[in-house]
Amino acid sequence: MSEQVSLNKHLRDAKIDHDLMHLILKITQSSKYIHHAMQTGDLGLAGTSNMYGEDQLALDVVSNQIFVKELEDSNYTSCLASEEMDEICKIPEEKKGKYAVVFDPLDGSSLVDANMAIGSIFGIYEAEHVMGKTGDDQVASIIIVYGPRVSLLYTTRNGVHEFILNAVGEFVLSKENIKLEKDAKHFAPGNLRAVATEEKYRKLVDSWMDEKYTLRYSGGMVPDINHMFMKEEGVFTYPGYHEKPDGKLRLLYECAPIALLVEEAGGRATNGKERILDLEITSLDQRTPIFVGSENEVIKVEKMLS
Ligand code: F6P
Repeated sequence: MSEQVSLNKHLRDAKIDHDLMHLILKITQSSKYIHHAMQTGDLGLAGTSNMYGEDQLALDVVSNQIFVKELEDSNYTSCLASEEMDEICKIPEEKKGKYAVVFDPLDGSSLVDANMAIGSIFGIYEAEHVMGKTGDDQVASIIIVYGPRVSLLYTTRNGVHEFILNAVGEFVLSKENIKLEKDAKHFAPGNLRAVATEEKYRKLVDSWMDEKYTLRYSGGMVPDINHMFMKEEGVFTYPGYHEKPDGKLRLLYECAPIALLVEEAGGRATNGKERILDLEITSLDQRTPIFVGSENEVIKVEKMLS
């Protein structure tokens, strides 16, 4: 049997910056606490709402607290921005490191009570702040999937690699350097309600059905994107519509980290006109439409929606 490669060894062999390596290990270590809280904790409403007026599940609150505490104390971070916090969390001078970390601690948390897969998303910038940066300034990004198994995809701009949490609590390599095929056979049409008013989106979805693509959409962006990586092809869309032209998904916490992973795997991620990674970050709450996945398929989407 070939020897298993731990995340620790994989990062060490990649010879990335020492602090970045330890920061990634800290994040992935913390995800084990989130998973534990998920299995043992209270999944009811916490009675608070986040700045977008959405009800927070207890698990959102817990997950955010865990990541903030672990990252604040790590000595590797310059600031933290979380989808669950109204403001950027500045790190005290004595604990300050060189990486700005942005994250959605528990994306798709409304799926928790239905016992469906959910995830965490991280983008890492070597910077004091993220305002004025673009997604292209990220030095790394990570998604962690809490499903029947816990798995993660990470990139330090050197390919995309999948790791699975094993029985003794170690992330071990399962797929290295994943590449997305140019054409898709699976589609994940987010915000499908937009077909009611957006004729071009309806035609696009119809074309996928006419061409007998397979629908795979869970409503959790992390597992939906992870599906694409595991099948090595696919397309995920979340357009805007007249009431919300920029859609729902956040540039900083969701779209930019995922766009980095997808581009690193040879795929494409745009808002229909521009690369997601070229969009300047101007606010924490910035939204963007997103069309992401296999390159030719995303080009087709752009043409059909233009
Ligand atoms: O942003 C949270 C999220 O749950 C994503 O994970 C998911 O892709 C999207 O919202 C689903 O949105 P909707 O509820 O409009 O289908």
